[in-house]
Amino acid sequence: MGDGKTGQKIVVGLGELLWDLLPEGARLGGAPANFAVMAGRLGDLAVVASRVGADGLGRQAREELAELPVESDFLQSDSEYATGTVTVRLEGGEPEYTIHEPVAWDRLALTAEWRELARQADAVCFGTLAQRSEGSQATILAFLDETRRECVRVFDVNLRAPHWSGEVLRGGLGRATIVKLNAGELRQVLMGSGACPHPVEKADEEEILRGARRLLERYPLELVCVTLGAQGSLLVTRRGDHRHYGLAAKVKDTVGAGDAFTAALTHYYLEGAPLAVLNEAGNRWGAWVASQAGGMPPLKAETLERVSGEIGTRRVASGAG
Ligand SMILES: Nc1ncnc2c1ncn2[C@@H]1O[C@H](COP(=O)(O)OP(=O)(O)OP(=O)(O)O)[C@@H](O)[C@H]1O
Ligand SMILES: [Mg+2]
Repeated sequence: MGDGKTGQKIVVGLGELLWDLLPEGARLGGAPANFAVMAGRLGDLAVVASRVGADGLGRQAREELAELPVESDFLQSDSEYATGTVTVRLEGGEPEYTIHEPVAWDRLALTAEWRELARQADAVCFGTLAQRSEGSQATILAFLDETRRECVRVFDVNLRAPHWSGEVLRGGLGRATIVKLNAGELRQVLMGSGACPHPVEKADEEEILRGARRLLERYPLELVCVTLGAQGSLLVTRRGDHRHYGLAAKVKDTVGAGDAFTAALTHYYLEGAPLAVLNEAGNRWGAWVASQAGGMPPLKAETLERVSGEIGTRRVASGAG
């Protein structure tokens, strides 16, 4: 599946593919799948690496992915376990999630095809949820270990209690090039990974910066990315940092905003863009997904061109940095 000719990068979303069972119907999701769809929309050769059951929802997932700019040849089938589902209930306006288990993606397998995919990948995004089972955890870590040195391994932690542990955090941080977390997750990661054993309470900007630097000291990461919802994001490397204050959006629902941020960040990171551009791209596409329904919204060619243009202009305006 190599695609050196077009210059398209191979970008893999590795982990859960699931149906959110909402009061209004079932909606396809899962952070790595949302990530892959956004990467595909931005022009990457995007791959969904997950596993579905031999059931109706599994067939429907394949049908839906076939209509999206992603490769689904690496979607495994499980003869025993069902396609992943999440029951979503609204409790006083706040969504409550029940992530059912065990499901097909709890049995991700490192097949010969997946090994080859790992060797070819330019970037791979993974999280903690799909590592809740020992089997899938082992597969994900082995997949990461099979990637080339220069492959960009993006750990978008997406903590969903109780489906994560300190061990899973350390395993991911030790292998990742980039870690992406929101402010609450940063606090949990610092304590949960043992990088900062005492309770981290205040999440003011200085504290966030200190926490990010601590992760850079402890792990072989190149970039720590902390998103702050409507307040934007902070990118931190060993050489510097960059703050973005976010963009106003007419929010429909914020499902997938973080995943879109990660996909855009990864896309521009692969181009070698400076921090200011990475931040602009992440926030523009994060805000755009927040303004749309669901985590895999359709994207018009003119929107892609307009937003890409806005990001491109910033690149010239902000220079290298
Ligand atoms: N209400 C909002 N208005 C504008 N932009 C938003 C809003 N919410 C999120 N975004 C954009 O999306 C990015 C990621 O959002 P957030 O920090 O909520 O990520 P997250 O917690 O990882 O989300 P997720 O629930 O998808 O995992 C933000 O940095 C911002 O650019
Ligand atoms: Mg997230």
